[in-house]
Amino acid sequence: MTRRVTARACANIALVKYWGKRDERRNTPATPSISLALSGLTTTTTVERFGDDPSEMPDHVELNGDAARGDSGARVAGYISLWRDLGLIDGAYAVYSQNDFPTGTGLASSSSGFAALAAALAEFSEQKLNAVNLSRLARRGSGSAARSIAGGIAALPSTSDPAARRLVEPNDVPWGMVVAIVETAPKTVGSTEGMNLSRSTSPYYGSWVTIAKHDYRAMLSAIRDRDLVRTGELAESNCYAMQACMLTTHPPLLYWNEVTTRLMRRVLAWRREGVRVYATADAGPHVCFLADRADLDALAGKAASVEGVTDVNVSLPGAPAEVVSKE
Ligand code: DP6
Repeated sequence: MTRRVTARACANIALVKYWGKRDERRNTPATPSISLALSGLTTTTTVERFGDDPSEMPDHVELNGDAARGDSGARVAGYISLWRDLGLIDGAYAVYSQNDFPTGTGLASSSSGFAALAAALAEFSEQKLNAVNLSRLARRGSGSAARSIAGGIAALPSTSDPAARRLVEPNDVPWGMVVAIVETAPKTVGSTEGMNLSRSTSPYYGSWVTIAKHDYRAMLSAIRDRDLVRTGELAESNCYAMQACMLTTHPPLLYWNEVTTRLMRRVLAWRREGVRVYATADAGPHVCFLADRADLDALAGKAASVEGVTDVNVSLPGAPAEVVSKE
């Protein structure tokens, strides 16, 4: 019987964003999305089965070395219960999850977190779960996690029970990303709450969903052609469209700060100087730069020298979620 499993997953950054839910209960996205998994932002999660009866011994969750309290602990515990309710696993579990990057700051930690957890839990199931089923299950934890199961460049459609599919293997992606970390304070409004607020209050929400569907189709073609200019321009404009929806939410979702704005302006200047680089940001202040692999180190130097940037992370395209050990 399996006792202890460790799995690892890479976080991913969306080039076409998921922002809005079609069905909250099953966590299906209202917008189709496309992402790049990042080798330098990973979550490693160990799951231990320590008892037969969760009503006697409740599940235990540790995130980055501390017992998880509040919403994040409840969310992980709820997710393990979902697997039990679906009849996929039984028993009580302890979860030890470690990120190698700042957590809860809009740096996509739920993507790698729930992907690593789903990959580990699958090893305790008697049912054979293939990558499609696993991606669907990861989505129930966090929509973006569906894409981290696939790795590389992955697409998650907005159909009724979608799974992500890998469009390009990590080694075949000619690009990577530099993430400029500008602040490590936890964000005030999480993605789940933020996108629900946008749906119920932003007058631009309907337009955003229409734009995202259009961008998704155009992005599939740009990626098929490995065209950095088209991919980058689309990623940047899709990010601005999502930000417009966020800004017109009530109360407004102001995830950017002065450093974010400075970096978004700087990327326009770098392009005017001939650098092939494009920027995107998620529900947080950090900025992710997409560029050719060969340009990443020089770009990291440029980004690090911008006032207010506290750290930079250079990532190549990341691998699919994987089990690293099992006892
Ligand atoms: C802005 O996947 O965190 O990063 O499904 O509610 O957990 P939940 O949302 P989550 O949202 C990600 C939002 C985003 C864009 C993206 O990654 O596509």
